[in-house]
Amino acid sequence: MSSFPLYAPAEEHEMLREAVRALADQKIAPRAAEADETGEFPWEVYKDLVAADFHAVHVPEEYGGAGADALATVIVIEEVARACASSSLIPAVNKLGTVPLLLSASPELKEKYLAPVARGDAMFSYALSEPEAGSDAAAMKTRAVLDGDHYVLNGTKMWITNAGVSEFYTTMAVTDPSAGARGISAFVVEKSDEGVSFGAKERKLGIKASPTRQVIFDNVRIPASRMIGEPGTGFKTALATLDHTRITIAAQALGIAQGALDHAVGYVKERKQFGKAIAEFQGLQFMIADMAMKLEAARQLTYAAAAKSELAMHGTPVRDLTFFSSAAKCAASDAAMDITTDAVQLLGGYGYTRDYPVERMMRDAKITQIYEGTNQIQRMVMARQILK
Ligand code: CAA
Repeated sequence: MSSFPLYAPAEEHEMLREAVRALADQKIAPRAAEADETGEFPWEVYKDLVAADFHAVHVPEEYGGAGADALATVIVIEEVARACASSSLIPAVNKLGTVPLLLSASPELKEKYLAPVARGDAMFSYALSEPEAGSDAAAMKTRAVLDGDHYVLNGTKMWITNAGVSEFYTTMAVTDPSAGARGISAFVVEKSDEGVSFGAKERKLGIKASPTRQVIFDNVRIPASRMIGEPGTGFKTALATLDHTRITIAAQALGIAQGALDHAVGYVKERKQFGKAIAEFQGLQFMIADMAMKLEAARQLTYAAAAKSELAMHGTPVRDLTFFSSAAKCAASDAAMDITTDAVQLLGGYGYTRDYPVERMMRDAKITQIYEGTNQIQRMVMARQILK
């Protein structure tokens, strides 16, 4: 995209939205309830996304990717999430895992690891959090010790989205314990590296078809060339990555909320009580208006953040990207929680059952207030940006 500023979707963005929505309506939405019930990773959806080249749209063309800009990536994630939040973690986590490489890796590392993701041969996860290092990510304990031309990794990462199904893991580990956040480095670890194993699948409230597991490193020996960037730059790379990818969580929240709103609107027009469609009651009309207003406000903020992300990715310094990224994630996820809760309310008793999708959407929405930094952390990040 060359137009600037890139706030509003261009015609090709809207065409992309239509294409993703058509696929999502036909192939993803019909499988969403079952994926939620069984908790199985939606491999059929993955294949359909790969066939349409929607599984990792952000990967640049030079690595065989679709080369979509940040706004286009948001739109893809939004439309997949409108049908199935778990499935939307395929394009979202592929971006989360690979942005550290795009930002900081050597050309060789980029070439080696981005091409298989673009082809759909491998997925990429991001391993920052640990059992005792969640919001305080710099308190991580996982160690990487240099031994000749290799590093040896030991430790346990936790809450890793798509763990086990991803081939590759951007992993942050301590290389200099005396240096705090400046003693953390980033590496690419492969699922097949000896000593890598996975914990049991977490039993979660939502996004059940996307596995969340520990990733355990037991004397995992990897070539030193798998370090992303210079020693000691891993924490900065991790946070710089989140500046780009919190926007994709905002996108996921928008999609979940849109799915719930669309379903609720259809329902209130059909459902009759007191001799008329419940959509005719002003109390419910005000609810619908508020839901749509909150959604659109969060969407515009997210698209503005995506425009800034795109500029920053291409080397333009963007002073307020950190603020916009946290603000979009926080606003969109809070909106999604409100909107999905109200959608359940509009469907009444039916909304509370698994016969309708809105209860799943409400459960799925909750995680967007928690992961890639809780909304309390987002507010802390925003306040620091304002007050600095
Ligand atoms: N970009 C680049 N560098 C940054 C940065 C940014 N946005 N923000 C801070 N830094 C740098 C600082 O400049 C500093 O470097 P110097 O010392 O060289 O100046 C260094 O990083 C440490 O910064 P802070 O002192 O501000 O770090 P902190 O320990 O106070 O932590 C924090 C800051 C914002 C709380 C951070 O720890 C944070 O974001 N925590 C939440 C973690 C998080 O989001 N986890 C989600 C994991 S991903 C996920 O959910 C998994 C999934 O699969 C979906």
